[in-house]
Amino acid sequence: MIKKCLFPAAGYGTRFLPATKSLPKEMLPIITKPLIHYGVEEAMEAGMRTMAIVTGRGKRALEDYFDISYELEHQIQGSSKEPLLKEIREIQNSCVFTYIRQKEMRGLGDAILKGEPLIGQEPFAVVLADDFCIHDEGDGVLKQMVKIYNKYRCSIVAVMEVPREDTYKYGIVSGDFLDENLLKISDMIEKPKVENAPSNLAIIGRYILTPDIFDIIKSVKPGINGELQITDALRVQAKQGKVLGYRFEGLRFDCGSIEGFVEATNYMYKKM
Ligand code: G1P
Repeated sequence: MIKKCLFPAAGYGTRFLPATKSLPKEMLPIITKPLIHYGVEEAMEAGMRTMAIVTGRGKRALEDYFDISYELEHQIQGSSKEPLLKEIREIQNSCVFTYIRQKEMRGLGDAILKGEPLIGQEPFAVVLADDFCIHDEGDGVLKQMVKIYNKYRCSIVAVMEVPREDTYKYGIVSGDFLDENLLKISDMIEKPKVENAPSNLAIIGRYILTPDIFDIIKSVKPGINGELQITDALRVQAKQGKVLGYRFEGLRFDCGSIEGFVEATNYMYKKM
């Protein structure tokens, strides 16, 4: 059973400056809920109750968000506004939040490694909150992935097709399809130029990782941009035949970009 979900959330969010000067990018709201709130809901739906957040300097708003706000809650108690806090209260009442700081930005692989003391030796999920995923017709992406994990017991990355000219933005995988949506990954490369991309199947920010990944991250060298890349560590597992790619059902919006953020906002607004 997967009980813990790790949220790397130390990044600066420079594309949203000046807003992200003092506001963590994970706190940017899609309508009324911050991005990380949706990620936590997705993890809860998949059965996880420990949310392990890797924060950094200037990210205190994240911790405050998942804590009680006595003054506010006292003020609106019994008023027509109280129901607006229902969902966040449910999260607070049923989940445990743990935090650790990444002191220097050394890449996603390093951020995940920083979470090791919060995770321990068990399989866990990773959510990159600025990849906003939604599946209106059924299970959320993490729940879909947990079902696959329960069958195969290995690391799993969510993948989707992207335009070839966009491969430089993503980890790109290659391998053999076991069925329509499941791929046994044989290789992967972080942010390849279009001419080096082995396919147009991109990793998006949902992972299930087996705990041996921590030692593998410690053993890989910094990759593209001089950063420790989770893709490079997963490549080692893939060479051992231990990584699946899952073409998920649902929509994904790149809320790390302004266009994706606006699209997600419009999509959710229409659903209201
Ligand atoms: C990270 C990963 C990349 C993945 C992407 C998904 O990159 O390193 O492999 O495709 O998330 O959003 P980032 O967007 O943090 O540069």
